[in-house]
Order: sequence, then structure tokens, then C-alpha cells
Amino acid sequence: MKTFKNYLVGGATFILLLTLVACSEPTSEKSAAEAKLITEQDTVFIGFLLDTLQDERWYNDKELFEEEVANLGGRVKTLAANGLDDVQISQAELLIEEGVDVLVVVPRDAAASAAIVELAHEADVKVISYDRLITNSDLDYYISFDNERVGELQAQEIVNNVDTGNFAYIGGAESDNNAILFRQGAMNILQPLIDSGDIELVYDQYTEGWNPDVAEENMLSALDEQGDDIDAVVAANDGTAGGVINALSTVGLDGEIPVSGQDAELNAVRRIVDGTQTMTVYKSINTLAVQAAEMAFKVAAGDDIPTETTVNNGQIDVPSILLEPITVTEDNIDETIIQDGYLNEEDIYTTP
Ligand code: GAL
Repeated sequence: MKTFKNYLVGGATFILLLTLVACSEPTSEKSAAEAKLITEQDTVFIGFLLDTLQDERWYNDKELFEEEVANLGGRVKTLAANGLDDVQISQAELLIEEGVDVLVVVPRDAAASAAIVELAHEADVKVISYDRLITNSDLDYYISFDNERVGELQAQEIVNNVDTGNFAYIGGAESDNNAILFRQGAMNILQPLIDSGDIELVYDQYTEGWNPDVAEENMLSALDEQGDDIDAVVAANDGTAGGVINALSTVGLDGEIPVSGQDAELNAVRRIVDGTQTMTVYKSINTLAVQAAEMAFKVAAGDDIPTETTVNNGQIDVPSILLEPITVTEDNIDETIIQDGYLNEEDIYTTP
């Protein structure tokens, strides 16, 4: 028979067990959480700040960069600022607070984003400028393409098609240091022809926010000002080229005059096949994203990265990696964009 003492012992055991169970339940959860925390703390944590996802390429940059960071065993948080400087700066603050080891930044505004470098350095976080340069700051690294060369390739291909007459230049966003370099490269090719009087630059305008609709509006005013007497257009990327070609189609000039582009967007490559766009500039986003992820890991490990070149950003000579851009016309789509696996044949050659 059970004595009171038995009950006491039984009860005490039961409470002890209860306590143990109570303690044990949280323990496995707690240890899982602790384990997760420890792994996260040990894992390289990269912050990837994008200006926008407006253009097709930035989706590819995001995907390829995140994939490579995962391959290298790290974790990444990507935020896009939708073209707003203050949003991009507060996103940088947020990621620094969350403990990123390094920030990889596509600046919306070359100058305004210097504040991100300052904030990061106050927290001992280094900054890599991705594709676009952050100017006037103590920036750590810069990885991109030879962007002046991009502009040269665009203008050269247009001049290969038409080398006399009225030219229009439809640039990128002036807040983007790349747009300045693209225009500089294009002028390296056009200026001698302007000086010789072979061509006249009758319209020359940057495009606010790289917005294709703004580019279309600008091209409509250029046509209006020139009575549709325009013989060629150097447009800074495929987005602005699309806007230009829409404008040209309102006066039956689409496919009649050469138009440049950049970024190998699917619709642009289809326009090249159709004959309404003359060329695009292919930049291997895969190479850029992979090398940037590798660079971020080395920076997070505290390594100094030797680079073949530096770029002066108005304050310092920034250690830089500049990759080679490639001209794509209807003659070499297969051996460039398709061979690289950036776009596939079926998507390009089958009309949507
Ligand atoms: C530039 C970039 C281009 C183009 C543009 C618009 O900085 O180099 O590839 O996409 O931004 O987003």
C-alpha cells in the first residue's frame, strides 16, 4: 500500500521530472537557437544594397550574387532602394546594425552614397562599390566594367552604320557615375567627327533615373525640334533604347536609323534580331557577381586584395577590378550571350 511518504516521494519525483522536462524542452529548442546563432555568427554576413530593380539586369545581379555567397558558405541580405537616396542610406544603417561583415553597394547617387562609406567605417565595416563608383569617399574597393569603353563600343557601332548627319545622345542618369563614363566614351568616338563637321550632335540629354519613359519623352522632343531629321541615336542602355525606339516608331523611323543599347536585355536582343535596335553591350554579370562575392569574403576575412588597377573617385585611388564589355550585334548573339548562358536561343528567336 502506498504510504503518504510514497506519495511525497512520488510527487517530488514527478515535480522534479516535470522541471527536468520543462527545462529539457526549451533546452533542445534553446540549443537549436543557440546553435543557429553561433553558426550565423561564424558565417560571413554580407549586405547587398541595390539602387533599384527597375532594369532586368539587377535581378540577375541579385540572383547570381546571392547564389555565389551561398556557394562560398556565407549569408547575404539584399535590399533595393527604389531609386531613393535616403532609403538607401537608412538601409545601410539597418544592415550595419544587423552586424554585416561587409557592405556591397550599387549606389543610386555617386556622391550622396559617400555617407554610406562613412557610416560603415564608423562601425569598422568595409565597403565594396559594385558596378557603379561611390565618389568622394574613403571607399575600400570597386568592381565593375570598363565603362568608358562601353560608351566607345556603343558610338563605334553606330558610326559603323552611319557616319554623317544629325546625331542624338540619350544618356543615363547623371547621378550615376557610370552615365558620365558612358557619355565620355561615346564622345571619344563622336568628337572627331563633330570637329570635322561630318556629324552634328543636335540633341544631348541625360535621362533622370534611367527611366525609359523619360528617354521616350526626350527623344520625342528631339524629333520635334529637328523636324524628324535625325540620322542616328546613341542611347546609354537597353531601357533608354526601348524608349527611343518607341518615339521613333511614332514617325516611322524605327528600324530606319541605328540605335545603341547596353545590358543584353531579352527585349533588346529581340529588337536587334528584328532590326529596330543595332547593338547592345554585353557585360558578363555572372563574372561580376562571382568576383564581387569572392572579394567580399576576402574583405570579411580581413585580407587586403591586390588589384591590377585603381580608379580615382575624387578623394582616393580605389583598388579596382574592371571587366571587359563586349559589343553584340545580330552577327554574334550566339557566340556571346547564348554561349555564356545569359539568355537562351529559344527566348530570343521565338516572338512572345
Ligand atoms: C548602370 C549600369 C547599366 C544600366 C544602368 C541602369 O549603372 O552599369 O548596366 O543598367 O545602370 O540601371
